[in-house]
Parts: sequence; structure tokens; C-alpha cells
Amino acid sequence: MINQDELKKAWNAVQAAFPKAKPKIGMVLGSGWSDVAESFEKLGEISYADIPGLGATGVVGHAGRLLWCRSSGIETFLFQGRRHVYEGVGWEAVAIPLFIIKSAGASTAFLTNAAGGTHPQWTPGDLMIITDHINMMGVTPLLGAHDPFWGPRFPDQSNVYDKDLRAVLARAGENAGIPLREGVYFAGTGPTYETPAEVRAWRTLGADAVGMSTVPEAILANAAGLRVAGLSCITNMASGILDQPLTHEEVTNTTRQSMQNMKKLILQFWAELANEPL
Ligand code: HPA
Repeated sequence: MINQDELKKAWNAVQAAFPKAKPKIGMVLGSGWSDVAESFEKLGEISYADIPGLGATGVVGHAGRLLWCRSSGIETFLFQGRRHVYEGVGWEAVAIPLFIIKSAGASTAFLTNAAGGTHPQWTPGDLMIITDHINMMGVTPLLGAHDPFWGPRFPDQSNVYDKDLRAVLARAGENAGIPLREGVYFAGTGPTYETPAEVRAWRTLGADAVGMSTVPEAILANAAGLRVAGLSCITNMASGILDQPLTHEEVTNTTRQSMQNMKKLILQFWAELANEPL
């Protein structure tokens, strides 16, 4: 069960750092996504080291900062880097960004990640709107005594990735001239990549992209009543599709190569959101 007291300490530190912040959106920038923050006007910054319970991210490609930013007039919290289930740091570190987003009064959580593509026709660098997920982690952060902060005991999950936000993302892609994929994100705990047999199995079960994050965050955000948007950068073909091993270096190289597209799409999405109720 998630310890609320730990989450409140993290929120208190953020409130003290940004007492005037009124974000509408909180965005978690996953592996290789951190530089997207350069597209935003920065209003403030706090290191994860100064947010109790969040600590330093140990994963290459995760910067470890919370930025208070603005784009198209929309105040935003950007979490540059995430903590993962596979780090064994407990649910608090995974839940803190969502607790902060909700506590700060934002309506929307935008989750990004790097993922392996299961379609032979897809290519590394493709960006995929997450339409739904499959949780193969074997656990969920909501196990344990019920905490009403995270909504009802049995949260509905029939529209985790908000339909309207998905449409706005698709429109942003069109208007920015960036073709987007759409699909189901499938999460295991990691830290191993999948075996080729697992990728064949997960694909048969409906996976379009496979990864090690995002799902616990989406579960929490949706349960807490936040609108959720999700975007994957397909950084590699999933295991067994190509006759080559998977490396984290390939993951970060691909996001570096796709950074211009990622930035352009995100800027356009914020511009489109300026005309939407948030
Ligand atoms: N599998 C799991 N996680 C990942 C992958 C992958 O192929 N690529 C980036 N994160």
C-alpha cells in the first residue's frame, strides 16, 4: 500500500519551491524524453534530490528534475525522469509525480515513455498515441487498504487514456506534419527486456508496444480522476523481430534522433490544448 505521509512530504517540498504554481497539466518525461523541456518557458526548477521520496533517478536518459514551465499560456509541471517498479524503490517513488499533479490542482497527466515496437512494419523513431494498456506487471499500486485519494475501491478503467485528449494529440500530429501511430502499451516489470517468445505472446494478446513503465502511473492517475494522455517513442523493434540484441543505448540514441519531432509534436499539442477546456 502507498504511504500517503511519504507523498505529502514530497508535495510539501514542491509547494515550498513553487508557492505560486497553478499547473493545468503534469507531464512525466520518460527515457530519452527529458530534452522536450527545452521547448517550454521555464518558471522554476527543483531537483529530485530535494523532493523527499523521489531521490536521484539511477537510469541513463532520466534527468531527475521537476520543472515548473509554461507553453501556449498553459502552466505545466514537467517531471524530467521517472522512478520505475524495477528499481525496487517502492510504490511511493512511482506515485509521487501523480500525487503532486493531483494535489497541485492540475486536471491532466501526460505520460511518455520509450518502448519496443511489436509490428514488423513500424520503425524506430515512430511515435505512438497510447489508446489502452495491458498490465502484465502482476501487481498494481492500488493493492492494499483503500485510500480515497486514489478514487473508489474499484476504479473504472474503460477510458484510461482520455478519448478527447487522444483526438487532440492526433490533430496535433496532423497539424505539425508528424505521422503518429496508435496502439496498446503492454507493461512488464523489467528490468529484463522480453524474450522473442514473450514478444510473440504479447503481440498475440494485443500489444503494439512493450515497456517497463507508465501503466502503474496511468492506473493511479485515472483512479484519482485525472485525465490521462500517453505517448510512446518506439525506440527499437521488440525482441526477436530483428536478429540483434536490445540495448539501452539504442533506446537513448533513437530518442535523440527523434527529438526534433518529439518537441514539435508536444509544442503543437500544447497549442491545440490552449483551445480546449482543461
Ligand atoms: N522492451 C521493454 N522496454 C523497452 C523496450 C523494449 O523493447 N524499449 C524501450 N523500453
